[in-house]
Amino acid sequence: MRKLFFANWKMYLGDDEAEALARSYAEGALSASVDVAVAPGFTALERVARVLAASKVALGAQDAFWKDEGAYTGEVAPKQLAALGVKHVIVGHSERRAMGETDEIVARKAAAVAADGMTPVVCVGELKEEREAGRQEEIVRAQLAAMMAALPSEAPFIVAYEPRWAIGTGTPCSPDDVAKMHACIRGIAGPDAAILYGGSVDPENFRPYLDLPDVGGLLVGGASARPDAVRAFFEAFAS
Ligand code: 13P
Repeated sequence: MRKLFFANWKMYLGDDEAEALARSYAEGALSASVDVAVAPGFTALERVARVLAASKVALGAQDAFWKDEGAYTGEVAPKQLAALGVKHVIVGHSERRAMGETDEIVARKAAAVAADGMTPVVCVGELKEEREAGRQEEIVRAQLAAMMAALPSEAPFIVAYEPRWAIGTGTPCSPDDVAKMHACIRGIAGPDAAILYGGSVDPENFRPYLDLPDVGGLLVGGASARPDAVRAFFEAFAS
């Protein structure tokens, strides 16, 4: 099965930059040995959708609310995202969990995204102190169990293991520790689940992660939004 390179542009890019970078993705994906998806900020979604429409790159979003309409100021409905052509929606990113999103909220979001025919990309991962206390698998198991209890059994989903302490720090989780955690996740998510790794992945260090048999792909933040790094990724994917 082909692996997935999933770009989370976070809040790094203006809309003009996002549109320009989307063109590089569309071109790079033509000869890439991986599937490619990008999650721009909400305001750039429509422009990026137009660029990617005839390309091999899937459109993603960084979050969604758990209701499809109503008096929810500032929220974005899964239905609105689906109407723009979004295929994958990140839910439960640790940067959102850090602002108060609970396992229950994440589970509701995942279910709402799936109900609108999109694939939730559910982020799980432990804090630094949780890993230091040896509790990483316990934490991730609880995060996963909440999400899976809320999803209908036939709904597709992707899990992204992103330890909080590895995100944006320049210190990725070691491939050995990623392999151990992915085995734990697979035990819960099942043999067919795609499980991504994310956390300080860049064009210099990505290969050992992508080559792990249990890793279905990469969820990349900072480096996925830098044009030079994007060029380097696609050069590597083309070889
Ligand atoms: P970085 O690649 O910037 O560490 O971020 C990873 C991430 O949070 C992707 O969702």
